[in-house]
Amino acid sequence: MSNILCIGAGHVGGPTMAVIAKHCPQHRVVAVDINAEKIAAWQSDRLPIYEPGLKDTVLSARGRNLFFSTEIERHIAEADIIFVSVNTPTKTFGRGAGKAADLQYWEKTARQIVENSTSPKIVVEKSTLPVRTSEAMERILNSNDKGLFFDVISNPEFLAEGTAIRDMEDPDRVLIGGRETDSGQVAVQAIVDIYAQWVPRDRIITTNLWSSELSKLAANAFLAQRISSINAIASLCEKTEADVSEVAHAIGTDDRIGPNFLRASIGFGGSCFKKDILNLVYLSEYYGLNEVAAYWEQVVKMNEYQKTNFVAKMVDAMFNTVTGKRIALFGAAFKANTSDARNSPAIDICQALLEERAQIVITDPHALDNAREALGEAAEKVVFEPDPYAAAQGAHAIAILTEWRQFVELDYGAIHEAMIQPAFIFDGRNILDHRALHDLGYNVYAIGKPPRTHFPGA
Ligand SMILES: NC(=O)c1ccc[n+]([C@@H]2O[C@H](COP(=O)([O-])OP(=O)(O)OC[C@H]3O[C@@H](n4cnc5c(N)ncnc54)[C@H](O)[C@@H]3O)[C@@H](O)[C@H]2O)c1
Repeated sequence: MSNILCIGAGHVGGPTMAVIAKHCPQHRVVAVDINAEKIAAWQSDRLPIYEPGLKDTVLSARGRNLFFSTEIERHIAEADIIFVSVNTPTKTFGRGAGKAADLQYWEKTARQIVENSTSPKIVVEKSTLPVRTSEAMERILNSNDKGLFFDVISNPEFLAEGTAIRDMEDPDRVLIGGRETDSGQVAVQAIVDIYAQWVPRDRIITTNLWSSELSKLAANAFLAQRISSINAIASLCEKTEADVSEVAHAIGTDDRIGPNFLRASIGFGGSCFKKDILNLVYLSEYYGLNEVAAYWEQVVKMNEYQKTNFVAKMVDAMFNTVTGKRIALFGAAFKANTSDARNSPAIDICQALLEERAQIVITDPHALDNAREALGEAAEKVVFEPDPYAAAQGAHAIAILTEWRQFVELDYGAIHEAMIQPAFIFDGRNILDHRALHDLGYNVYAIGKPPRTHFPGA
């Protein structure tokens, strides 16, 4: 039996520990957090995050070998293996502001581990970190006067919010990086043994520490790059009457390109892609690789453009003004099946429309509370409405900002009758049947497709 601890019970720490506890009944698994409210929610029936399948997984092990606690120091002392899954946001101040990772939470955790340890431990980086952070971690941990030695392992998490449980139950791969020393390899094996309880051995990849750290940043950069690439093509489609869905299908059937991540949209969001690419940009600049930095930075710029262009298109279409007009935003989450609204394009689009002095109503099945938080002071000017029919009542326009299935299944005929005419739909996720909407009387604008309007000469 090992005592496994996770510091940081957020979107990664909570679900990961739940899956480990479920599959490793022989180990005692504890997730701790400084946020007492979050821990109370993990202990309750109302978990702090929404993820399909999460509740069943938590319930399968909670109270048996899965525990949530705020007693960080005591659990550090008891742990054999410590996963660290605290947040690593983009730095907002000082050197590297706006690009580099803010490692203050990470470093505080490392110091807390040293202070409260009385036995050697394996410390696992689960957070996404700049390459070579584990070297700093090793230095902090091993500069102790207690004669304790800590092995640092990199085990980046590849789960995607919305499919977190599925991704962890059946991962494409688990990546474990460690030092090529004897004790490093023993530590790697200890982490391999945990995952091998449910993941086939050939999907567990072991590498050196630096490859593991860099692979996580590289994977997110490649995924985000595909989104920006198809969005760049979508803008060209809008100028040339090509249809981006047809282009995506045509290129995605090429085996070498493949069909995934080729959906044009208002852009990527969430807490990871932007921060991780900026982190890569900063690292490249740090090593004097300015062309490499500029190459990756363009992926983020393209994503910003996608949102401003969408708002510009809305204003243009609605006779160059949205001032005082009621606009229903369908979706606040950064993607479907998650309650997370961090860095959601919906939030930026909402802010931009508020600047145009539109009256905004947002509806979302799971993310309204988080949207309110993400909007900060601006939330006062926004109406939060869980019912999409009520949100669209008396609206001039609907903008689809999250690809929730629920939005595809609405009765758009009834909605059209309750809207101000001429009624507009801006499908920022290309999920609706545009021809059918046009037949119902809507003026329909999508991403990377010719508009369908009822205006003469348009
Ligand atoms: N969210 C994702 O989809 C995802 C996927 C893969 C990797 N990651 C990475 O995993 C890391 C965590 O991301 P997340 O989305 O779970 O973040 P999160 O904000 O949801 O959770 C982080 C948690 O750490 C806690 N915390 C911070 N400092 C602490 C401390 N000193 N002691 C105890 N708890 C502390 C916070 O209170 C918070 O609950 C990040 O590095 C992120 O880049 C995230």
